[in-house]
Amino acid sequence: MSDASTPGLSTPDAEPPILPAPRSSARMLELVFPKDLNGHGTAFGGFVLSLMDKAASMAAIRHCQGSVVTARMEAVDFHLPIRRGDAVALEAEVVHTGRTSMRVKVDVYRETLATGQQQLATSGMFVFVAVDEHGKPRPIVRQDGT
Ligand SMILES: CC(C)(COP(=O)(O)OP(=O)(O)OC[C@H]1O[C@@H](n2cnc3c(N)ncnc32)[C@H](O)[C@@H]1OP(=O)(O)O)[C@@H](O)C(=O)NCCC(=O)NCCS
Repeated sequence: MSDASTPGLSTPDAEPPILPAPRSSARMLELVFPKDLNGHGTAFGGFVLSLMDKAASMAAIRHCQGSVVTARMEAVDFHLPIRRGDAVALEAEVVHTGRTSMRVKVDVYRETLATGQQQLATSGMFVFVAVDEHGKPRPIVRQDGT
């Protein structure tokens, strides 16, 4: 039997601790529904691209600690079709930083949730630009000076 004074335990109304989020990466998990399919019954390419853009933008925002816009999508390769009922697992990571721009690599895995098996289905590179409140490029300077 323990009580609130036990080290490591918190009282029910205590605030959970604030934990640091990843600095320059983001992960997402989505399900493929019928509305996301093309005429072949597999995921529509534009649906996959929009998920990639979303995951990549979150990695870029984390990295530059502010607003970003997509400047470029390049080298997107669709290696395997993503099937109805698959989960789509995305991993995005900032791999290069310029003065105001960031290159973000995105890998997309199709996953059978029940078996936990993933295969690389799509990969691509995105460029984001950090922007100020007027939508103009701004230098990437992190608050901690890194
Ligand atoms: C992206 C945008 C802010 C760039 O503005 P700009 O005045 O042309 O910027 P600059 O020429 O000064 O370039 C700024 C940086 O962006 C990079 N950049 C701009 N366009 C790029 C492109 N098409 N591909 C790769 N990098 C690009 C430049 O290399 C530069 O990088 P650096 O500072 O790290 O050296 C502007 O073109 C824009 O607002 N585009 C529309 C964005 C949009 O609507 N996206 C979709 C919805 S989010």
